[in-house]
Amino acid sequence: MTVELEDYYAARASEYDRIYAKPERQDDLRAVERWLAQAFAGKSVIEIACGTGYWTQFIAPDSGSVLALDASHEVLAIARSRVTAPHVSFVIGDAYRPPEGTAPFESAFAGFWLSHVPKARLGEFLEGLHRTLAPGAKVVLLDNLYVEGSSTPISEEDAQGNTYQARKLDDGSVHRVLKNFPSEHDLREMVAGIATDVVYRRWRYFWALEYACSREAPFTDSPAASPTTAAR
Ligand SMILES: C[S@@+](CC[C@H](N)C(=O)[O-])C[C@H]1O[C@@H](n2cnc3c(N)ncnc32)[C@H](O)[C@@H]1O
Repeated sequence: MTVELEDYYAARASEYDRIYAKPERQDDLRAVERWLAQAFAGKSVIEIACGTGYWTQFIAPDSGSVLALDASHEVLAIARSRVTAPHVSFVIGDAYRPPEGTAPFESAFAGFWLSHVPKARLGEFLEGLHRTLAPGAKVVLLDNLYVEGSSTPISEEDAQGNTYQARKLDDGSVHRVLKNFPSEHDLREMVAGIATDVVYRRWRYFWALEYACSREAPFTDSPAASPTTAAR
């Protein structure tokens, strides 16, 4: 069993897109793809943990520009071959330390990432992300709802309330992966004081949280610094 998320996704790179072939999720996927395609129209976007670029391919066409980062060279190689538009860049990076010193981004997207953030690091993640954004920038977080029979069962829960799955790869290796499933209440509490215009959307298999980043709020005093619950 390995616990390193980056190692797990590097090993899973060539298998990753099978998750998007689950028959029961196809209607939801088409609906989310249509919605996301227009959500960043004309805006510069920073995409966190872009993986194989599955969502980048829908966001990119109408966006002003996309800087997509991920910790794994293996998934980025697939993303780069999938999305070749000149206004899209893929870079190796850490979701907890997104690039600073670039022009503030007008929007941010993270697909199926928040669920892998330990509860104790949610504030750190959001603070780092918001530092790269212009005041009022639009943030969209997209992730899984837990659906019995479709989701990988939860195998354990730690003292902080993080949940874990035992995931098997084609080579037979089994990986202990932190995967949280936050409720709407958890998500709203997470961004209370640091966001405005908060909208929670829900499909059968997925949820999305959309908000405007209000940078004026001091992160250390916000509930995001000590959220109670988080999120495949
Ligand atoms: C569940 S996948 C999501 C990929 C993509 N966003 C999607 O929805 O198809 C999680 C991604 O997080 C990446 N990752 C893991 N730890 C990371 C870190 N510290 N910083 C950036 N990316 C990381 C993995 O390499 C993997 O591509």
